[in-house]
Amino acid sequence: DRSIKIAPSILSADFADFGREIRAVEDQGADWVHVDVMDGHFVPNITFGPPAVAAFRKHVTTVMDVHLMIAPVDPYIDAFAKAGADIITAHVEAGPHIHRTLQAIRGAGVKAGVALNPGTPAEAVEHLLDLTDLICVMTVNPGFGGQKFIDMTAKVRRLRTMIGDRPVHIEIDGGVDPTTAPRLAEAGADVLVAGSAVFRGGSVSNSAPYGENIRAI
Ligand code: DX5
Ligand code: ZN
Repeated sequence: DRSIKIAPSILSADFADFGREIRAVEDQGADWVHVDVMDGHFVPNITFGPPAVAAFRKHVTTVMDVHLMIAPVDPYIDAFAKAGADIITAHVEAGPHIHRTLQAIRGAGVKAGVALNPGTPAEAVEHLLDLTDLICVMTVNPGFGGQKFIDMTAKVRRLRTMIGDRPVHIEIDGGVDPTTAPRLAEAGADVLVAGSAVFRGGSVSNSAPYGENIRAI
């Protein structure tokens, strides 16, 4: 399915109210829910682990898209699979054995994603295309919401050509807003993660802005 899907990142939600935030963005038209797991080691920020993700699962009725910004990643795959992730994405930069990691994710019965930092070329996934369901192109250096967009349109175009007929999503993560989204979709991206651009101006008790923001993207 190559239709454009909007995946709000709950990194920009109210951390004391995740259940209602998830239901609010889904009610307002989110296609997927994006969960950013950070370890204070691979990235300079810490968010949440498998027990929190298992708690989110009870509220997600769409697709729970779990983005692991952790190193090492392999020891935690089963825990995030058991927590109910539909997709687990690992970074190509997080260790020497991304091929094994993707096999392990699929082996756990979960769709496998691979993420590329801005400095990593498209060619890093060239030999992984049959092992992956999603390529996440980072358009910020991972770690925080609300950062300035880094243009990766040429990388997206290159990946779409490399992917060919394979059923692989291209996801964009970082700085997505109504200004940056169109050229990425035109280049071949079909999943747009957005944190600050979805949650700004709203709250769980006033969630209509979430819907307006999603439609604007
Ligand atoms: C960045 C995270 C993103 C982040 C996006 O490390 O992977 O998912 O939440 O936030 P915005 O949309 O605010 O750039
Ligand atoms: Zn993310």
